[in-house]
Amino acid sequence: MANEPEKEAAGRAAAQLVRDGDIVGLGTGSTAYFAVVALGERVKAGMKILGIPTSSQTAELARSMGIPLTTLDEHPEIDITIDGADEIAPDLSLIKGGGGALLREKVVASASKKMVVIADSSKVVAVLGKFPLPVEIIPFARTVVEKKIAALGASTKLRTTEDGKVLVTDNGNHILDCSFGKIDAPATLAAQLSSVAGVVEHGLFIGLAQVALVGRNGKVEETAL
Ligand code: 5RP
Repeated sequence: MANEPEKEAAGRAAAQLVRDGDIVGLGTGSTAYFAVVALGERVKAGMKILGIPTSSQTAELARSMGIPLTTLDEHPEIDITIDGADEIAPDLSLIKGGGGALLREKVVASASKKMVVIADSSKVVAVLGKFPLPVEIIPFARTVVEKKIAALGASTKLRTTEDGKVLVTDNGNHILDCSFGKIDAPATLAAQLSSVAGVVEHGLFIGLAQVALVGRNGKVEETAL
């Protein structure tokens, strides 16, 4: 795919930021994939790290790359987390969850001293909101939550798998993809969504990423807050 070299460049650059002995949050998705592969190569070359995966998919990849894994219970403080994003705003607020792992991704990011977001250049936006905002909900509450989110101004779509089944997250929940259009006040929307009973988490990541590495035209652009 056209953006793969940009994703790989960003993922590899982020893997270089990890230091021997670090506890590392391992993101989910096609960009995080490249970071995990590059970390696996560094582990094979002798670097000692422990990874905390944000999804079963990433756990499997990390194991296959020989990266030793740990848990948040054993290591509640993470040195560095590397993860992708669906949109990145200039202040490094993000939309995440296109890969369905937003809940664990947010827990891991919030337990991290540093979060590095990696992406191809198509993910950089001036204002968040073109990408439908993923919201993880408990299945029991679906219709009630749909109505409340509609009242906040979004159309909602229940996420399904390629074979048409309702997607079930690693946490046994469902995802509503919510089209708000331009999100001019992300922090306000984040608070509104968090206050809806039945919403487990939403994909607005505000104040979590400190560094963005974006692949563009054979280079990696860095933004650091
Ligand atoms: C998964 C995510 C991903 O990081 C996001 O969807 C970006 O994925 P990709 O790197 O495949 O474009 O938030 O929940």
